[in-house]
Amino acid sequence: MRFTLLAAAGMLLGIGQAVVVSSDPGSFSVAMRVKALTDHGRIDPLNNTEKRRVLLSVFWPISNSTKCSQDMVPYMPPATAASYGPLAESAGLPANIFSSFQLEFCQLPQNGGCRASGRKASRFPLVLFSPGLAESRLLYSVTAKSIAAQGYVVVTIDHPYDTEVVEFPDGSVARNNGTDGMEQRLTEIRAADISFTLSALRGLAEGDSLFQGLPGKINFMRVVAMGHSLGGAAAAQALRDQRIRGGIDLDGRLFSPVLEAGLDRPFLLLGREKHAEEDATWNQFWSVLRGPRALLGVSGTTHASFTDIPPLIQSLGLPDAAQSQVEKLLGTVGGSRMQHILAELCSSFFVSVFEGDYHPLEHTASGFSEVSIRNSSFKAV
Ligand SMILES: *[C@@H]1O[C@H](CO)[C@@H](O)[C@H](O)[C@H]1NC(C)=O
Ligand SMILES: *[C@@H]1O[C@H](CO)[C@@H](O)[C@H](O)[C@H]1NC(C)=O
Ligand SMILES: *[C@@H]1O[C@H](CO)[C@@H](O)[C@H](O)[C@H]1NC(C)=O
Ligand SMILES: *[C@@H]1O[C@H](CO)[C@@H](O)[C@H](O)[C@H]1NC(C)=O
Repeated sequence: MRFTLLAAAGMLLGIGQAVVVSSDPGSFSVAMRVKALTDHGRIDPLNNTEKRRVLLSVFWPISNSTKCSQDMVPYMPPATAASYGPLAESAGLPANIFSSFQLEFCQLPQNGGCRASGRKASRFPLVLFSPGLAESRLLYSVTAKSIAAQGYVVVTIDHPYDTEVVEFPDGSVARNNGTDGMEQRLTEIRAADISFTLSALRGLAEGDSLFQGLPGKINFMRVVAMGHSLGGAAAAQALRDQRIRGGIDLDGRLFSPVLEAGLDRPFLLLGREKHAEEDATWNQFWSVLRGPRALLGVSGTTHASFTDIPPLIQSLGLPDAAQSQVEKLLGTVGGSRMQHILAELCSSFFVSVFEGDYHPLEHTASGFSEVSIRNSSFKAV
């Protein structure tokens, strides 16, 4: 789903220089690596001339006792940034604005010299993240970085031929060539991509280039899935994989078969305040959830609030006059506040999942005036 924003603004032409986008600080700095993986056991269900591939961004928490230099990395490579040109223009922004954004990452030497090992190595839980329909994984990099800064390895996944444009490191490009009306099928393809990603990461050698120089390891006993919009539905579907211990749907409509089958593991529905009133699948799904569960609403948000668009817009430093336009489309919760809410709620839910104690989530939710516990299995509402 594409978003329109700032429809009438048209006042930011001329921005050409790099714009650094901030994420929630958390207590870790974050390193980032890109990795392409091929599933040799699966023909691509959307292109039968190829084996299925996925492209990942891996966000890795780095404790502040590890020295690293800060490195600026473009938010999107050229063809992906160009695919967001029409969205930018519809918002009155320069078509090339997405190529101006940059993120700051911790740069570590890849020679493995500072890799912690043995007993002292930290083990980080793993969060597998699936984007909205046709959206690039890169549109969730700020969110992924904010969650990683809480001490999680976060992996955002591009699903080729569903994602509008996937630019692989080898130079090949996979473009969506029409997926209208295929949402249900896409959630199943994505769930298979999520399970494949988990298996493939587990199977990588410790010396794989992905991990070189990164301190600590992934704790494969602590894996969760989450996503936005269709990616949230895919995360729910991915929980048929018993290795995944819980999931989060950010403002996404659910699809069969998980919609009817439900889940017996922890699940969080986190969305705009009135999501359940506007989308009947949320109450339907709620009624078949059997594990610990919560339905949280964030007031002053829209569907796009659960992407990186709010922090991207905030980084532009809009004049006050444009602010009301922004609020109509992105809600009243600003970019850094929304990133803070997402990072805190998601990490508290993960702690709850892994510890089996829902006080952390309840405590965090009640600490934000924008967040209401609409329903939960652990608190009388
Ligand atoms: C470093 O991390 C620790 C533990 O997460 C935190 O308590 C401390 O405030 C951090 N220090 C700085 C300077 O950020
Ligand atoms: C399928 O993959 C082949 C080989 O990479 C490519 O040439 C073709 O354009 C792809 N098909 C679609 C529908 O994108
Ligand atoms: C894309 O879809 C159109 C119509 O469905 C088809 O004619 C065209 O060959 C497809 N492109 C590729 C690269 O497969
Ligand atoms: C909350 O969920 C319970 C079942 O778990 C249901 O009986 C109740 O009606 C729900 N309340 C609201 C306000 O949706």
